[in-house]
Amino acid sequence: MDNIQPYPDSIFKTISGTLKEWALDDFEIGRPLGKGKFGNVYLARERQSKFILALKVLFKSQLETAGVEHQLRREVEIQSHLRHPNILRLYGYFHDHSRVYLILEYAPRGELYKELQKCTKFDDRRSAKYITELSDALLYCHSKNVIHRDIKPENLLLGANGELKIADFGWSVHAPSSRRTTLCGTLDYLPPEMIEGRMHDEKVDLWSIGVLCYEFLVGKPPFEAVTHDETYRRIAKVDYKCPQFVSEGAADLISRLLKHNPNHRLPLKKVLEHPWIAENASKMSERRGVPSEGTTVSSQ
Ligand code: ADE
Repeated sequence: MDNIQPYPDSIFKTISGTLKEWALDDFEIGRPLGKGKFGNVYLARERQSKFILALKVLFKSQLETAGVEHQLRREVEIQSHLRHPNILRLYGYFHDHSRVYLILEYAPRGELYKELQKCTKFDDRRSAKYITELSDALLYCHSKNVIHRDIKPENLLLGANGELKIADFGWSVHAPSSRRTTLCGTLDYLPPEMIEGRMHDEKVDLWSIGVLCYEFLVGKPPFEAVTHDETYRRIAKVDYKCPQFVSEGAADLISRLLKHNPNHRLPLKKVLEHPWIAENASKMSERRGVPSEGTTVSSQ
């Protein structure tokens, strides 16, 4: 391979050590990697260094119409300062007359929601591995007072070794916070305090881990309903049930995270120490984080 990744940080500086201003001409653009609400993500290669990365292209007109410029600024400000193996790096950004470009780490195994669609559901070991990696990354975010607020399969990517990477910090803020931007899209991953527009803090992410753990094991989120209103009612009442095939340990962890009162949710450190996590995730790390064949549950 002639595009072995060089020193990841070095290509983003000039020889003199000053930060370089990037332009579209500095990159060769490859295949689309994903579709977003305000534009697409493309595989790209920086011409000089041959460094492979992902370029997220956002249309200024669409950002202005939706009034989300402040969210994009926050995304760049927050994500560019985070350094964790389970958080997608944001190396920099630039813009031209019509578009904003985010220079992102390339996650070679792609989008986690596609993997979940393919497998329908994950087994205990794979789910516990992802929950461990997610909890570890969120523990780091929360230590910097950053709350993500939008943890869902669509915002999770997979690195070269199958490790989880949190992407898309568009909804992230510093805690505590109230929500001033209108919620759009699914309510499925949001806790009662957020859908009801109350003040909230980092404990919103604990709820989302519970929702995600359920979805990994069952194949659909716990409060899913036909209408938005019905999902709202089910979340507000914490109305969900684990199917029989969910193991006792997993059901116990989920029940400790899906608590209406944010103060009653299991803290991240305790999530990492939970017996179901300890039993299932350690076996994965011993095998260097690569799920072996037969660890996914087929759809039949
Ligand atoms: N899809 C969306 N963003 C991506 C990224 N950074 N790497 C790989 N696939 C993606």
